[in-house]
Amino acid sequence: MKGVKMENICRGKFIAIEGGDGSGKGTAIKILRETFADGGVVFTREPGGTPLGEQIREMLQKNAEDEMCVMTEMLLFNASRAEHLEKVIKPALLSGKHVICDRFSLSTLAYQIYGQRRDDFLDKFRKLDQIVVDVNPDLYILLDLDPEVAHDRVMKSGRDKLSRFDEKGVDFYRMVRLGYISNIGKFNNKIVDVGDKPPLEVQREVLQIAKEFLGK
Ligand code: TYD
Repeated sequence: MKGVKMENICRGKFIAIEGGDGSGKGTAIKILRETFADGGVVFTREPGGTPLGEQIREMLQKNAEDEMCVMTEMLLFNASRAEHLEKVIKPALLSGKHVICDRFSLSTLAYQIYGQRRDDFLDKFRKLDQIVVDVNPDLYILLDLDPEVAHDRVMKSGRDKLSRFDEKGVDFYRMVRLGYISNIGKFNNKIVDVGDKPPLEVQREVLQIAKEFLGK
């Protein structure tokens, strides 16, 4: 895959879906998966998406309690991303398939830098991102939800997830949202205002955006 100029060839489109915990991202992606089940779209996620990436995901999950340092966290998310880009995302795009990815590098910026209030690592984040990410999403879709409501939803759901940040308070949710809102403008993007819309309405909006973008 090395040396292939992604921008110079006819390739599939790359969509990343982002949103703070509790935003309904998971159910929206489920609908996309069901709608585009006919093939031609590769669904994947971060951290994960490859066997090694899934091991890294487990590593992040298992070590959630003992406060891994932020650099280690960024390196692990980026290691998973490097593997993912090389083994899944770029090959799929080059073969003309579209890729819909549950989270991408905006998550690292929102969670590790903003969420954990580590602006002292912003420069390091940028350098690392520049090294690892040689293909950015053609479209970021952000499910945007009020942090208080999102926090409340997660607390009530008790769902089984990666849960590194489950125990964090509402302030963490506010910072993650700030991270998204302050940086998504650097990319082609669509923001879905979740508000108090019924889940079906949110799913319909996300589906509409994806269909239009992929021409499906
Ligand atoms: P997951 O169970 O996939 O939750 P969600 O459905 O909310 O995506 O867990 C992913 C968690 O990992 C989520 O809390 C966000 C976090 N994360 C980071 O902190 N940095 C990253 O770079 C990525 C990709 C995810």
